[in-house]
Amino acid sequence: MTYKEQLDMNRIPQHIAIIMDGNGRWAKARGKRRGEGHIVGAQALHDTMMNASKLGVKYVTVYAFSTENWTRPDEEVNGLMALLFEKLDLSIFMDNDIRFCVIGDTDRLPEKVRERMHYCIAQSAGNQRGTLTVALSYSSKWELTQSAKRIAAMVQEGTMSVDDITDKTIDETLCTSFMPDPDLLIRTGGETRLSNYLLWQCAYTELYFCDTYWPEFDEEALCKAIYTYQQRERRFGKTSEQVAEENDNK
Ligand code: IPE
Ligand code: IPE
Ligand code: MG
Repeated sequence: MTYKEQLDMNRIPQHIAIIMDGNGRWAKARGKRRGEGHIVGAQALHDTMMNASKLGVKYVTVYAFSTENWTRPDEEVNGLMALLFEKLDLSIFMDNDIRFCVIGDTDRLPEKVRERMHYCIAQSAGNQRGTLTVALSYSSKWELTQSAKRIAAMVQEGTMSVDDITDKTIDETLCTSFMPDPDLLIRTGGETRLSNYLLWQCAYTELYFCDTYWPEFDEEALCKAIYTYQQRERRFGKTSEQVAEENDNK
């Protein structure tokens, strides 16, 4: 039986975060340039967004470019920016009723990418079926630093007192304030680290690492990740017995 056939459709994660890693190694293993890995990786993102949406996943948040990735060779960075510009196609979002969002330090992106990005964000804002958020020039340390600055400014202006700061205040000042925390985080490409991605938001997220390089991540690979997630017990600090009792009362 396939993983797809084994899925419990009543327990599909609401939010999946993905670290799309392994494009370069996928290309190298085939004697191709790294850029070709990114091109096939963009297709894998398109397909994954469609597959997740078909399964009923409401939010997909993908790591496409980290603040650290700016330190890669100019040729690769420029190639990635050109690919981003080319692939940002509003019709994909409109035809599939998907809202497009971006998180990250987007001021650093080239102007023409920013313009097209803002156009897609604005035009797709009312779409309901699902939300694709792309993390671009993103890192958690950057995000948490700007959150701290915003909170400090509110305290300084007198619109908030120090005692009123809670974890909710931090949630609300992060770029992800419009989405629930991820239920499942998938990292492809074999590395088992978070690389500065959604550190605060993944406090209770189920982590799933697979060796598959991102360009080869297909529907069955996605279903395997979701199936694995469904075998786990999310306890949120409680005991197994408490969790079972809560489920019985549902
Ligand atoms: C992930 O693939 C995509 C980006 C970081 C832009 P990599 O480019 O990191 O591929 P590997 O890890 O070198 O194989
Ligand atoms: C993480 O991948 C960022 C993205 C997938 C966009 P990297 O390939 O940059 O991560 P490290 O440097 O190997 O941890
Ligand atoms: Mg990598």
